[in-house]
Amino acid sequence: MENPFQFTGIATTPSFCNRKKECVDLTHYICNSQNVLLYSHRRFGKTSLLHKVLAELDDVTPYYIDLYGTTTVEEFITSVIQAITRKVSPVERAMSWLRDTLTRLTFQFSLDPISGLPVVNPTFHGGDQGPVLTELFGLMKSLSEKNRLAVVFDEFQEVTSYGDAAFEKRVRKEIQGHHRIAYVFSGSQRHLLSSMFGDTNRAFFKLAASYPLPKINTDHFISWAENLFVKGEKPIQESIVKEVVERCENHPMYVQEFLYHLWEEGLGNLGLDALEAAILERRTIEFINLFKGMTPNQKKAIKLVARSQGKGLFSARNLQSVGFTTPSQATRALNTLLIRDEVVHNGSWAIADPLFKRWILQLG
Ligand SMILES: Nc1ncnc2c1ncn2[C@@H]1O[C@H](COP(=O)(O)OP(=O)(O)OP(=O)(O)O)[C@@H](O)[C@H]1O
Ligand SMILES: [Mg+2]
Repeated sequence: MENPFQFTGIATTPSFCNRKKECVDLTHYICNSQNVLLYSHRRFGKTSLLHKVLAELDDVTPYYIDLYGTTTVEEFITSVIQAITRKVSPVERAMSWLRDTLTRLTFQFSLDPISGLPVVNPTFHGGDQGPVLTELFGLMKSLSEKNRLAVVFDEFQEVTSYGDAAFEKRVRKEIQGHHRIAYVFSGSQRHLLSSMFGDTNRAFFKLAASYPLPKINTDHFISWAENLFVKGEKPIQESIVKEVVERCENHPMYVQEFLYHLWEEGLGNLGLDALEAAILERRTIEFINLFKGMTPNQKKAIKLVARSQGKGLFSARNLQSVGFTTPSQATRALNTLLIRDEVVHNGSWAIADPLFKRWILQLG
């Protein structure tokens, strides 16, 4: 049996652990054409969960649109068109159908260099793309008349960088009248998403049910991992899996990374400490770059959170230990880290990435 653990890309069976409740909840929303905002910290498993849910839908046609890296309304429109036309073949049929419905654009096709499959490319003719958005969402509505749709916008926070104030209003106006489509907005930058959907002055206010993706619980990780190790005839002690999950604070990508190596190399004489050191070593460049990108006060603040384990952050002793002279310096730096999703504040302060925390703790 191949190593079932996978710490890059989308987790699929058998590397996908549980999430049964989340699958049921999201499926219900989708089948009832209820819009949802799915969010979590980075690498918590949103994309993997969405792919699983979409793959298992009955009687609802799924469209998955990855907005990662899009910076303009034109790129948004292109991503939607490509997601829709991927389901139509041959490509000539898709193009003639698009020419009839999206009258303001012209279309060409090229071959995707990776998959070799044809891809439709729209050409924009300058000016305001609002009317194109109206035609595009009109197209979605007409598609939904045949079959209910699930339209997933992954990395939805990217739309905040489009710099087009009318975009959000236009999208809201169009999708409000779609009663057979569930729009799923998914992303990881909480503060951007929560201000888009939670701020009374923003167009997306209350447009979707909020669904924060929880951590996978420890028992689910244990039974899933044990089962795979038994299948691979490499039984593993429950206590080891439990310790891995605890070290990783239930972060699925890191749990997979530890288990991947345990499958390949076993525990060895040096145990989990040595494995953790090797994983940290491989991520050093990533963590150095993250740390380098911080201001001196942010560096102090992140050390403060790591060292104090989130408790008593503002005690004179803790502040001084990292070099802060006033609490307000720490507050300002923490707020910026919070906005950048590097730290979390749920009652107490914590570092979002558990291994980055462990790396920070190694610093002097
Ligand atoms: N249900 C799951 N079971 C086990 N591992 C998972 C699960 N979901 C995700 N993972 C692990 O976490 C990694 C990240 O998952 P995924 O890309 O789905 O997260 P994400 O929240 O979409 O990340 P991003 O914030 O970067 O978009 C996967 O490569 C996989 O190792
Ligand atoms: Mg994702």
